[in-house]
Amino acid sequence: MNNNVSIRRISQKERYKVNELIKKRAPKEYQEYLSEDEGQLGIVNSDYFFIYVAEVGSEPVGYIHIALIPKPDKRKGTMFIDDLWVEPEHRRKGIAEKLMEEAFKLTKKYDFVEFRLVVNTDNESAINLYRKKGFELSGGFFGRKPVTADC
Ligand SMILES: CC(C)(COP(=O)(O)OP(=O)(O)OC[C@H]1O[C@@H](n2cnc3c(N)ncnc32)[C@H](O)[C@@H]1OP(=O)(O)O)[C@@H](O)C(=O)NCCC(=O)NCCS
Repeated sequence: MNNNVSIRRISQKERYKVNELIKKRAPKEYQEYLSEDEGQLGIVNSDYFFIYVAEVGSEPVGYIHIALIPKPDKRKGTMFIDDLWVEPEHRRKGIAEKLMEEAFKLTKKYDFVEFRLVVNTDNESAINLYRKKGFELSGGFFGRKPVTADC
C-alpha cells in the first residue's frame, strides 16, 4: 500500500487533471472522439457522475469514473464503474483498490442496489482486482455500436 497517495473527488473545474492521463493513455481515441461540448451537457458536473483522482503530492496517477444509473420506478438503480486507470509506474501499490474503496463509500449516501462494470476476459489484472473487491464476474457479451446520425 502506498501511503503517499491521496484520493479525492474532483469537480468539472479540475477534470483537466484526469484528462491529461487519458490523453496519454489513449491518444488516438482522444483525437478521434472529441465532443463539441467539453464536459458533455454538464453531466460531468452533476450529482450523477463522479470522478475520483489518485494523487501523489499534486501529481495525478490514477482515476475512476462512476455514473449513477437510476430506474424510473421503485426499483433501485445501479452504480456503473465506467473507467479505472492507474499509471503503469504506480501499479501494484494498492491505488486501484483505494480508488474503488472511495467509490464504495458512495453507497452509504445513495440508495442504489449494486455496482456494475464491464471487463475484458483477457484483462487478468482487472479481473483479479474486481474479484478481490467482491465482484462476481459472469460471462456475457459486451455490445458496442457507434452513435451515428441515422443510428
Ligand atoms: C487494473 C489496474 C487498474 C490495477 O491497478 P493497481 O493500482 O495496480 O491495482 P492494485 O495495486 O490496487 O491491486 C489490487 C489487486 O488487483 C490485482 N492485480 C493488480 N495488478 C495485477 C497484475 N498485474 N497481475 C495480477 N493481479 C493484479 C491483484 O489481486 C491485486 O491485489 P494484490 O496486490 O494483493 O495481489 C491497472 O493495472 C490498470 O490501470 N490497468 C489498465 C487499465 C485497466 O485495465 N482498467 C480496468 C478496465 S476494466
